Parts: sequence; C-alpha cells; structure tokens
Amino acid sequence: MSRSSQWYSGTDRNAYIHRAWMRRGLPSDAFDGRPHIAIANTASDLTPCNMHLDEVAEHVKRGVWEAGGVPLNLPVVSLGETQVRPTAMLWRNMAAMAVEEMLRANPIDGVVLLGGCDKTIPALLMAAASVDLPAVVVPGGPMLTGHFRGVPLGCGTDVWKLSEEVRAGTLSQAEFLRSESSMIRSKGHCNTMGTASTMGLLAEVLGMTLPGLAGTPAPDSRLLEGAHATGALAVEMVASGRRPSTVLTRGSFLNAIVALAALGGSTNAVVHLLAIAGRLGVDLHQDDFDRTGSGVPLLVDLQPAGRFLMEDLYRAGGLHAVLREVRDLLDPHARTVTGRPLVDYLAGARIHDPAVIRTHDRPLRQDAGIAILYGDLAPDGAVIKPAAASAHLLRHRGPALVFDSIEDLRARLDDPDLDVTADSVLILRGCGPKGYPGMPEVANLPLPAKLLAQGVRDMVRICDGRMSGTAYGTVVLHVAPEAASGGPLARVRTGDMIILDVPNRRLDVDVPAAELAAREPSPAAVKAFARPARGWQRLYVETVQQANTGADLDFLIGSSGDHISRESH
Ligand code: FES
Repeated sequence: MSRSSQWYSGTDRNAYIHRAWMRRGLPSDAFDGRPHIAIANTASDLTPCNMHLDEVAEHVKRGVWEAGGVPLNLPVVSLGETQVRPTAMLWRNMAAMAVEEMLRANPIDGVVLLGGCDKTIPALLMAAASVDLPAVVVPGGPMLTGHFRGVPLGCGTDVWKLSEEVRAGTLSQAEFLRSESSMIRSKGHCNTMGTASTMGLLAEVLGMTLPGLAGTPAPDSRLLEGAHATGALAVEMVASGRRPSTVLTRGSFLNAIVALAALGGSTNAVVHLLAIAGRLGVDLHQDDFDRTGSGVPLLVDLQPAGRFLMEDLYRAGGLHAVLREVRDLLDPHARTVTGRPLVDYLAGARIHDPAVIRTHDRPLRQDAGIAILYGDLAPDGAVIKPAAASAHLLRHRGPALVFDSIEDLRARLDDPDLDVTADSVLILRGCGPKGYPGMPEVANLPLPAKLLAQGVRDMVRICDGRMSGTAYGTVVLHVAPEAASGGPLARVRTGDMIILDVPNRRLDVDVPAAELAAREPSPAAVKAFARPARGWQRLYVETVQQANTGADLDFLIGSSGDHISRESH
C-alpha cells in the first residue's frame, strides 16, 4: 500500500476524514492509489530570489497530473539571504527541520523541492535526506546579467568591489547608488558563482535534479519545460522507489567536490555538503574536499574568481560541458534521480564559448579546489579557496590585528591611527556557529581605509565565520573550533606573528604552545558568546556542531525515514 493510501484508503472514520477534507475539486479517483506528490515550495515575497517559484510550481503540477499523480503545493520555510537577520545560516537547520517534519507528517509519496536562494536548496536536501521519500530538486535558476556603465554587474561580487572603490575614493557615492537599480535585472538568484549558483549546480551533480536542468536562467522558458518534466519524473520515481538514499552516495558527493573545484564554486558548499551527507550517514569528511578537489583545475571563468556570469555559462554549454572535461575524475556509478548514472548524460555536451568554459588541457588555473588547513590556530581545520586568493599571499607571515566582533571591526577599521600595514593579518573572531550565533558571511572583512587609499586590494584575513560565495580574497574561514567554544583563536593577541602556508596546509601562530594554552581567552571574544534566553536561538546555540562537520544540530544528524506511527484523531 502506498504511503498516501495509508491515509486515504478504507471505509473507516479516519479515512473518511482524510479524504473528505481534501476533496475540494480533486478528481474522484485522486484517492484510489494515485501518487501524491508534494511540491515543497520556498516561494516568498521576502525571498526575492525565489519569488518566481509559484510559477515554476504550476508547471511541476502539470507534469505530475500528466503522469497520473496528484500534485500538492506545500509552502515551506523560506530564507532570503539578503533579508533575514542576523544571518540566513542561523535558520538553515530550522528550515531543514521544519521541512523534514512536514514531509513526514503529511500523506505524500514523493516530493519536488523548489529552491534557489543560498540556504534553500541545502535545507531542502537535508530534509529530504532525513525523510528519504522519493525527492527531486528544481533549482530556481540564476537571474539575467545586468549592466552598469556598459559593463556587466555581478550580484554580490560587484557590490563588494564598488563599495571598496567608494571607500578608496575612486568612485563617488552618487555613482555607487546609481548602480543599485542595474544590479538585479530579472527574476532568479545571484548570477555569480556564489552559493546559490553553486548549490543549484551541485544538486544536479549529486544526482538530485533532472539532468541538464541546473543553471537554466530563471526567466528562460526551458526552466518551465524542465519543471514540467520533473513533475512527471517524480511520479515515476515513486513507482520505481528511487529515494535520496539510492542517489546520494559517497561517489555522488565526491563528484560534487570535483565539480565544486572545476566550477570555482562557493566555500559554503563545504558546510552544506557535509550537513547533507550527515543526514544520510554517508562517510564524508572535510579532508575529502582537499584530497579529491584540490588538484582539480578551474575551468569556468565566472565571477568572483573570473569574469563572466551564469547566463554566459549556460550559453557556453552549461554544467554538462564542464563535467565532460573532468569526466575521468567522476564516479561512473553515481546515479541520478532518473536511475541512470550522471556520466551517461555527458556524451553530447559541447563547449560553445571557450572563453567561458575552458578545456581540461587549458584551465584557468591548476589545482583550484578548496584547501583544508590545520595548525595551532585551527586544530579541527579551516578552509581557504586558493583560486579566489592572491598568489603572493598564499605563503605569508605577518602580525595579527585582532577584532573581537564585527562591531569591534566596524568601530576601529577606518581609524587613521590604526596600527596596520599590508603585511598585517586581520583576524575576526566571535563569528562561528555558536558565537554570532549562526556563522555569518563576514570572513571577507573589508580592508582598512588607509590601506585601500594606498592601493592595497588584498590582505590575509582569518575568521571563524563564513564568506559569501560572491566574495574573493586571501581569506581563511570556518576556523574550528571557533573562538566562542574555546578554540585557540580566542587566545591570539594583536602583534602575534601568524604563519599562513597554504602549499603545506598550515595555519599557525608563532607563540610557544604552552604559552598559548596558558593564556586566558579574550574576555571580549568570550563575552560575544551570550546564551540566548529562549526559542530557536537557544536550541541552536546549545546543539549546533562546528563547521568542520557541517554545522548541523547534533540531534538532527541522521535520518528517521518516512514512517509515522500514529493516527491524528
Ligand atoms: Fe539570493 Fe544571492 S541573495 S542568491
């Protein structure tokens, strides 16, 4: 008996109630064993990147009906990256938990997951993994390219660049504000290779989308065509019993790590992929990103590491053209939601614009994947993306300039008397999962105004928070353990010599180990960690794990399946 039939079939009072309240126009055979497909829909007027998903949902519905299923719109918690405070990451696990519970609690046989903005696809995948019902993603797609003064604007990336130009005095405030209305040209998520683009594409590499769909721009009619086909596929998946646990294997996660490097994707993918894997018990470690990904060449010339934007990637051949170049590195057995391996779909892929997508033999950069550093300052690891860093800073020794919070940074950074040079190492702590709380995207801390005025455009920066996928620079992030949970970052003092050695994967402080251990953690860094009195933030701070395992809540790791044992009345 199908899952929905457990609610609807039979002649008893409970089945009567379940059917009767759902009729409201459904066809009379809707409860005769037809698959019921939820559309977990993150459309929201307060998640601007996902505003168009109601239209996408309508096309998913058509496909579900056509294939004999019953589509059911299920609005779920949505997270607008630019809108929610203090940081969308604080709510990723809440969204995942709420979606998981609603998928399990309702009479559905499968689910189509509609996401787009940064945290939405990770949260949906975490939830689907823990329920393990047949599930397939429709990525909402990137927006079209906007232009300002005749040149393309990259969402996010160009905000950072233009605002630094204002601080450096090379762009007027008025010109800066004029660029605002050009930045967001259409529906869709950010068009750089930021977190939303990365996670949409990686959802496909993981095998969780209709092959060929990820990266389709949001206004492109082919997105709606793909949504229609996905609806039909979801019905077929229920019949075939293909679930996340049959698609999301270690091989598919390693494929995602290879793709992450070749695409020049966001560092946020590290915590998201680790968290999704944790829901399935897949053996994935932070070090896998370095072992599997660091030697992969960068093939895509997209901002923030390069020049182009997502619309260019799509016309240049898209994700499949990129994957074809690294086909030898992909697990040939990793399957997709169609039941066929990912690599089966790559044979016909072509590069149509070699300026956007490079061949394996002529990459933009060799060894482009994420590197994982360990050392005195990061006993449990830290992340750096060498492809977004300045080559001359990958080996660096310089004095620490420590900030205990983002407020401390803002108060002092532009002080003309700040004791800082281009060799200084800027450290921002108190920004980890517990400390902020929620691990915000602040690791790409701005440079001091007086150095900007001198022409300095990059410095070594270290933080226990995250960095926007649209940001760039020589930034060491996700330092674990974070300062607020007693990590050595809390014991560093301004003036200590910091040693960054990316080729040897080290991050150290030139202070004798015994002296560092004997130091009291900075009271200001510890004070930043206040235990919230109640609500989600209390639960989050008490149970969130560190970045090196995905920053999930300890009791959400793993899965509970789709079984629900009790009737509702
Ligand atoms: Fe939504 Fe960038 S703000 S994807």
